[in-house]
Amino acid sequence: MTTGAEDSLTTLETNKPLSESVLWRAQRSYFERVGIDAWRDATVPHYVTCNPALAHAMAQVVLGFLRDCNAGEARAGSEPFHVLELGAGSGRFAFLFLRALAELREVMGWSHVPIRYVMSDFTESNLRFWRAHPALRPFVTAGLLDFALVDVERMDGTLELLESKTMLGAGSLERPLTVIANYVFDGVAQDAFFIEKGQLSECLFTVATETPELDLSAANVLTRLRLASSRRAVHPDYYPEPELNGLLRGYTDRLDGGSVLFPAPALRCLEKLSALSSGSLFLLSADKGHLDEASLALEVDPQVTVHGSFSLPVNYHAFQQWFLRKGGEHICADHRQSSLVVAAFILGAPARGMPEARLAYHLAFNGPSPDGFFRLRQGLEAHYEMLEFEQLLAHVRLSRYDARILGDCLPAFSQKMTTLSAQERVALAQAIGRAWANYFHIGESRDLAFAFAACLYQLGESASALALFEESLVLYGEDPRTLWNLAMCLFALGRPEDAARALVKAGESFPLLHAHIGLLPKTG
Ligand SMILES: C[S@@+](CC[C@H](N)C(=O)[O-])C[C@H]1O[C@@H](n2cnc3c(N)ncnc32)[C@H](O)[C@@H]1O
Repeated sequence: MTTGAEDSLTTLETNKPLSESVLWRAQRSYFERVGIDAWRDATVPHYVTCNPALAHAMAQVVLGFLRDCNAGEARAGSEPFHVLELGAGSGRFAFLFLRALAELREVMGWSHVPIRYVMSDFTESNLRFWRAHPALRPFVTAGLLDFALVDVERMDGTLELLESKTMLGAGSLERPLTVIANYVFDGVAQDAFFIEKGQLSECLFTVATETPELDLSAANVLTRLRLASSRRAVHPDYYPEPELNGLLRGYTDRLDGGSVLFPAPALRCLEKLSALSSGSLFLLSADKGHLDEASLALEVDPQVTVHGSFSLPVNYHAFQQWFLRKGGEHICADHRQSSLVVAAFILGAPARGMPEARLAYHLAFNGPSPDGFFRLRQGLEAHYEMLEFEQLLAHVRLSRYDARILGDCLPAFSQKMTTLSAQERVALAQAIGRAWANYFHIGESRDLAFAFAACLYQLGESASALALFEESLVLYGEDPRTLWNLAMCLFALGRPEDAARALVKAGESFPLLHAHIGLLPKTG
């Protein structure tokens, strides 16, 4: 997507407020059309929000908040705490969050307190993918997980839970609702305003295309749109809602000048969601954006970033002000978060305050945080082969056994294989087991099951290697290299007949295999 008007283009619409732009329709079509493929081939970036370190940190904060809500209650109560994830995308964050929650509840002895996590999105195809996903099923069976179709821009105040067949409406929840929204508010409709010498103007967008018969549901449609902006002076009471106008007036009065994004649709959605639990709400959100008013105003009108879908920075400062004006609070980091802003916002805080949520946020995000770890990893990953075994293992452990990071470290571990002590071999095998437990399959091309299995075989862990080669067959099909390696494991386990059967199968599709001795690599 580029900005600036050009004569040869066909205009799709002229001078529309940003939140009413055709851009959002194109965005909607994009997510509806590509479904889970958006994450499978990493067109839509998601690693920074879908890793065990962030999921664990967020689970700590949510548990802190739930403990604050429960403080002083003699019994656990039978109504579950509801945790609603908006725009849950691939489902990987939810899976890692639920695993972290289970681990922390066990450590705390808090398994008796009922919690229901609700994954939501506005695309039905995402919901179908999650509901069929074997890694999510056990959470559904345990009554911990439900699903709902939720459109942030069209929230009507009800929530239909598909598994428990429950319809929630205003006042349905006795306990405060927790909402998680990662990389969501940057992709839902926003408005844009320009402020100059105390005068408020709205930014209007003209959208044009080089392709006259543009199909909004076509692939890469967003990259073919051209944007031009203009401004029109508007009355400070721009919105029907006085609280939104109050926020706008604050910017007009305080800011010297520049353009400001304004998340009116997201704030309206939060208003509706808070009504489910009679006005109380705990929002935990991660995105790229600004919490600080000083960094809000831009000299130019908003620029759109296209990455399959498109995104704009989130004005978290407006969220903070909106919560504050309603008597709420917020919790944020004591330093600049460079890869991802993570902040919590509360309406209707528990009577005894929120010491547990504040402590959990402080421990999880103000010290060794997921944001800091993410940056460090970016610098380190080109040098894994220079690290010693214990340094590599510490890196994997600090990632909270991230399957992707362990996969990236495997070549460096393999280099050291012949020099490892017995203890080191056991530690590496354990790390592989833990990282595999954190693996959530969405069909990416890299076969981590195969890579982990090959390493386990080298470590002499033939039974564990066999199990993962079998996983690889399930997830990536009957590849002769996998069958061959599986046969190696079966031989090592003293099962020659089974091994022979696997070899015959491997040889059927790849006769040259019979000349090979030892484990086969899988490079493509
Ligand atoms: C950039 S992805 C982020 C996915 C996931 N939370 C993550 O961190 O990887 C944005 C997600 O929000 C969903 N989404 C976009 N617009 C939405 C809307 N208006 N209402 C609800 N979900 C929306 C998309 O379908 C997609 O799953």
